[in-house]
Amino acid sequence: MDALGYIDCGDNRDTVLFPWVREIVLQRKPGSVLDFGCGDARFSVELARHVKGRVSAYDRDPHMREQARRRIAGEGNAAVSLCEEPGAGWTGVFDVVVMLGVWMCWRTHAECGENLALIARSLKPGGVLVASVTHPCFRNRTFATYRTDFDEDRYMANGTPFRVYVGTAGKEIVIEDFHWNLEAMITQVREAGLVLDILKEHADGPNGEAPSWLSLVLSKPACEPTGE
Ligand SMILES: C[S@@+](CC[C@H](N)C(=O)[O-])C[C@H]1O[C@@H](n2cnc3c(N)ncnc32)[C@H](O)[C@@H]1O
Repeated sequence: MDALGYIDCGDNRDTVLFPWVREIVLQRKPGSVLDFGCGDARFSVELARHVKGRVSAYDRDPHMREQARRRIAGEGNAAVSLCEEPGAGWTGVFDVVVMLGVWMCWRTHAECGENLALIARSLKPGGVLVASVTHPCFRNRTFATYRTDFDEDRYMANGTPFRVYVGTAGKEIVIEDFHWNLEAMITQVREAGLVLDILKEHADGPNGEAPSWLSLVLSKPACEPTGE
């Protein structure tokens, strides 16, 4: 995936997705938030202006972390701590983890499971993961700032790679993503020990257009299941 190109491609997540996610985060009055797969920290820096608690950000791609570092510095040293790697210090420390546009980067069911399990471990009991993905049921639509070449006949073929053309005219970039359908996502979530609280479909514009993005709010049970 051309992750760096994603930084400045002029897509509409700032209006379609980010305000809703920010509101969900703020409602919980979190003491600590992690932006997992933060990219250039576009969302984390914005969130840090509103949230009273600590905001951390992590991306596995060192080039992205460098971009994030620059953005954080460029915003007058925004109150965002950039993590170099997921550490032991993450266990049970976050009230909220946000993960925007990241799940589609994962190629296999095992990779999805490992990442979701890491996030589940990182949450405090009762904490939530807010995970947003391009809507898996509408990949054949042309949205305002993205379209894909996904063949809807392959909806049940999980892990299918597809191309996404993101951005506005003249700034469009191409990235490779991987398809996970609703059933696969919910199975992976359950295997990670998380519980679905809210499912939100984000219309691509103010006139009730089809949903370009889907968000899941997933909680970590406050008590460990007893297995009975
Ligand atoms: C499409 S970008 C989205 C960036 C950012 N969340 C945003 O909304 O602007 C996806 C990012 O997820 C990162 N990523 C994918 N898998 C990851 C993982 N397992 N751990 C950390 N970062 C990951 C990629 O490096 C990439 O920067």
